[in-house]
Amino acid sequence: MMKASAQTHPNIALIKYWGRNPNFPSHLNIPTNDSISMTKETIHSDKSNIELLTHTTIEFSEHYEDDEGFLKTETDLIPFNEFQMKRIKKVVDPLRRLAQTVLKFKMVSENKFPTAAGLASSASAFAALTTATSKALKLDLSQKVLSTFARLGSGSAARSIHGGFVRWHKGDSHETSYAEQICACNEFDIAAVIAVIDRGEKAVSSDVGINYAHSSAFNPVRITESQKQAKKITKAILNDDFPTVGKIAEKSCLYMHSVMMTSEPPLFYWNPGTLSVIKSIINKRKNEETEFYFTVDAGPNVHCFCRMEDLDLAHTMLRDMGIPERNLVRVRQAEQGSKVVEQHLF
Ligand code: PMV
Repeated sequence: MMKASAQTHPNIALIKYWGRNPNFPSHLNIPTNDSISMTKETIHSDKSNIELLTHTTIEFSEHYEDDEGFLKTETDLIPFNEFQMKRIKKVVDPLRRLAQTVLKFKMVSENKFPTAAGLASSASAFAALTTATSKALKLDLSQKVLSTFARLGSGSAARSIHGGFVRWHKGDSHETSYAEQICACNEFDIAAVIAVIDRGEKAVSSDVGINYAHSSAFNPVRITESQKQAKKITKAILNDDFPTVGKIAEKSCLYMHSVMMTSEPPLFYWNPGTLSVIKSIINKRKNEETEFYFTVDAGPNVHCFCRMEDLDLAHTMLRDMGIPERNLVRVRQAEQGSKVVEQHLF
């Protein structure tokens, strides 16, 4: 049977990826800078009803006349549209070529959290797809190689292959642009509360928005600074130096959003709620010497980083700002990014 399933956690970038290197074909998603992330899982608090996990099953068979893919929701199986299928095949086709098969596939994927809302659904989706496809095709690929194929679907997916803290080396070819773990889970004490400001789909997906990065005059500065930040933050992570990690992560986030806001067309992923949470985190730090730091991806939701023991404090601060309990998600590092599982979705 050529059928397999995988489960994968998303990741949150501390050093952001925002822009493809124009010297390489864009479908390779070779980035302009190294990026660093934490693979994250939900700490169960049944109030948010969000579990940061993607589950994907794929089967190759002569019974399928065409490639087909579906998003599983609580009530329906929604076929992926042409654009989404094209993106899925960016990962599946090269793996199918590697396995020397022309068999068609059926795949079903389920996100246990809002899709395309800035919670990194594409990272976990494409890493899960890569892991399941490689297993179904009986390809025995290392995690490093898996990360290169996941990158073809979505750059940040390269990082979700691994657990703990991960560095995606920008590289200068398909083979050398890969992600590797820099620190295993829990060697560095950090957790976060995500303030979900808006669960809706963002207007401009990161896959599209990222193409505008080069039009910002600030982009070259962001690229140069990101390389330096990646080096410094790696050292701070390995030294369990939380304030340094937090400060660098905030800088990287603000550099990325500066590029977004000054690109052509300009991209505003924040909304007023985003800014309120950011300001509260900064004020809390100033007034009470609490070690909270923020980051925001291509969406309005804010990650408030803290030490594991300060999770309750961070949660209370965000709740007291009026963010409903169901929109507060506590996360910690996930030990494994992507793994093969026995349960199939069909
Ligand atoms: O998920 P992608 O590859 O479309 O790009 C994601 C970019 C950010 O999430 C905004 C930053 C990052 O490095 O994850």
